[in-house]
Amino acid sequence: MIIGVPKEIMPGERRVSATPETVKAMRDMGLEVLVQKDAGEGAYFHDPEYIAAGAEIVENPAEIFERADMILKVKEPQFNHDLNKHEADMMHEGQYLITFIHPAAPANHAMVKNLAARGVTSLTLDSIPRISRAQAMDALTSMSTCAGYKGSLMAANHLPVFMPMMATAVGMIKPIQALVVGAGVGGLQAIATIKRLGAVVHAADIRPDAAEQAMSLGAKVLDLGIAPEDAIGDGGYALALSPENLAKERAVLAEAIKDKDIVFLSALVPGKEAPVLITEEMVKTMKPGSVIVDISIDQGGNCEITPPGQTEEKHGVTIIGIKNIPGMLPTSSTWMFSKNVLNLVKYLIDDGEVKLNLDDDIIKAALTTHAGKVVHQGTLEAFALHQ
Ligand code: NAI
Repeated sequence: MIIGVPKEIMPGERRVSATPETVKAMRDMGLEVLVQKDAGEGAYFHDPEYIAAGAEIVENPAEIFERADMILKVKEPQFNHDLNKHEADMMHEGQYLITFIHPAAPANHAMVKNLAARGVTSLTLDSIPRISRAQAMDALTSMSTCAGYKGSLMAANHLPVFMPMMATAVGMIKPIQALVVGAGVGGLQAIATIKRLGAVVHAADIRPDAAEQAMSLGAKVLDLGIAPEDAIGDGGYALALSPENLAKERAVLAEAIKDKDIVFLSALVPGKEAPVLITEEMVKTMKPGSVIVDISIDQGGNCEITPPGQTEEKHGVTIIGIKNIPGMLPTSSTWMFSKNVLNLVKYLIDDGEVKLNLDDDIIKAALTTHAGKVVHQGTLEAFALHQ
């Protein structure tokens, strides 16, 4: 069985789906691995290391798509301007694809239908279920960890002041105040990182479990006044709040952000747009020079005026809406991502062959196209909505 690792083609994408370490592990499984020339350069993994691990370096991505039985990627198939061909159009019947497909996003509907029509069996990493058994394959969690860490450093970098308390010859400097809204995987990592830089950290989440975890990391927890039954849905995940509860939360946050230097936004509701928690009016009341980092921007953003993909100063506040923050930490994010993918490959392949158990919870959730059809539940629902 041949595994193909093309170089990512999204502008600015520095990650790659396999490292020399995971190539070696796949070779030990008896698989052949084709890696596109310079595929790992952006993450500082070089061709000689891939060769030493047993990979075959291939210059032309079209050859990888042609020869491989399974393609491993970071981002969904996109148009390759060098070849003047869409990556999905280079895929063929019976081939497997593992990547973040984001199949429910309307921009990807045509591409997903194309994969199905071409007979590609694709699995999307954004739908790996959040169960203990699947944790080692959960690339979304890995990437949230990267975004929480790197996003905090970006906030620190934009601040016009020191973060920690400092005793200097000219006087005492007070530590800055930070607020992290949404204490999931990314938010908890932000709390830990910002705290290590010396700030006093406050946190807010509508799930009591998340608030407790934030507290155990040393954050002071804000009471949002939301009843747990209004905040927690099936499986313990956050619910979208009613307009009344959202207004209540905004009122608490409106007071809380006035004296904060960093507001780190990472509140998400699974499968929904991110709740808008900070309005433009609220931003106007923040301290001049303060910084908002909105890592929920891919789902629309928690702040009403976060500039998608940009960093801008608005009303004296620097607002960071950079997308793909994990890509700015390319070596660590690639290391984590490639291990998640390797674990999924190991889960799927037995004795050099894919054994696709369609009754398995992990496979059922991640399977996007199979046997000529789109089978991913969230995507089918999104198709119906956008017809
Ligand atoms: P997420 O990225 O979907 O959401 C981030 C946070 O935003 C959540 O904690 C959520 O409660 C919070 N939130 C939603 N609406 C909010 C609002 N209006 N105001 C304030 N906060 C709001 O969540 P993530 O990071 O994916 O994980 C959530 C939890 O799932 C984790 O804390 C963990 O317990 C669990 N988990 C389990 C995994 C496993 O077992 N394999 C893997 C990953 C997460």
